[in-house]
Amino acid sequence: MSERLLDVADLEVRYRTARRQQVRAVDGVSLHVDAGELVALVGESGCGKTTTAQAVMRMAPIAAGRVAFRGRDITSLSQREMRPVRRELQLIFQDPYESLDPRFRVRDTVAEPLDIHGVRDRRDERLREALERAGLTPPELYLDRFPHELSGGQRQRVAIAASLVLEPRLLLADEPVSMLDVSVRAGILNLLDGLRAGGLGILMITHDLSTAAHYADRICVMYLGRIVEEGPAAAVIGAPRHPYTRALVSVVPQPDPDARSAPEILQGETPNPADVPTGCRFHPRCPVAQDRCRTDDPALRDAGEPGQRAACHYA
Ligand SMILES: Nc1ncnc2c1ncn2[C@@H]1O[C@H](COP(=O)(O)OP(=O)(O)O)[C@@H](O)[C@H]1O
Ligand code: SF4
Ligand SMILES: [Mg+2]
Repeated sequence: MSERLLDVADLEVRYRTARRQQVRAVDGVSLHVDAGELVALVGESGCGKTTTAQAVMRMAPIAAGRVAFRGRDITSLSQREMRPVRRELQLIFQDPYESLDPRFRVRDTVAEPLDIHGVRDRRDERLREALERAGLTPPELYLDRFPHELSGGQRQRVAIAASLVLEPRLLLADEPVSMLDVSVRAGILNLLDGLRAGGLGILMITHDLSTAAHYADRICVMYLGRIVEEGPAAAVIGAPRHPYTRALVSVVPQPDPDARSAPEILQGETPNPADVPTGCRFHPRCPVAQDRCRTDDPALRDAGEPGQRAACHYA
């Protein structure tokens, strides 16, 4: 049994808009990540993926629910109490152009977390190891460069090196390749895959189902602030049980002509977390909705393969 690193239960994050509307950015999310596991959190823009990761990092206000890291409840730790937790729990951002300070050399960017956490021993070795683990070898070639002297893929590797230097257990990677040139994406994804194989837990946020299908052990599909389907990647992609997942899968290009299904284009307005529909939150767009879907909110329950669950009355 691998260690349960992250356990999120019934997490809620709410914001108020300028017009005093309540936005249910995260509205009851439960998920977990074990050591050596890559879990993909998939869903369209605005469904609450980034806010979920921020809440785990305690960078977004938690209105309800619980976040546990390595068995310890961190939901109400003070920012001071969170400091040692942050050594083991690192966030990788989407945009390596924004996340690196243009005035910092690579060595300073990667050493910054060591300084913040007061780590002084084996400093040079730690820097080198982090760069090597991030695929920047030999490290001497990169240590004194500035961000403008690096490609997009190299920048993201520097950001990953900075997140590895404290030897974390869990990485939260928020769309780690979406700002990168297509030609370098696989390199970064393979790097994350290698880190997972080395025992790290990874929660990878992506809006791209084919990336999730290829790299994830498990997939969690998010819709309007909630997980509506989860399970082993092969089951969720191969035999989705929730109508929303089916619609997402139907528009992913399939190499095998026999596996192709007609693309299902979702009807209705794009969902609004300031106005969550009653009953099943997907009902205004669901092609198979019935009367009870307008009033009864379906819970996630077992459906399909072992470990697969869907929040649909008819899954
Ligand atoms: N700081 C904030 N203040 C108000 N609304 C926010 C804030 N952060 C996110 N939201 C809203 O919460 C919802 C979820 O956003 P986000 O988590 O960024 O989605 P995703 O990462 O899936 O695209 C969106 O409607 C977004 O506008
Ligand atoms: S519960 Fe009803 S509306 Fe919701 S996904 Fe299932 S069939 Fe569609
Ligand atoms: Mg996002």
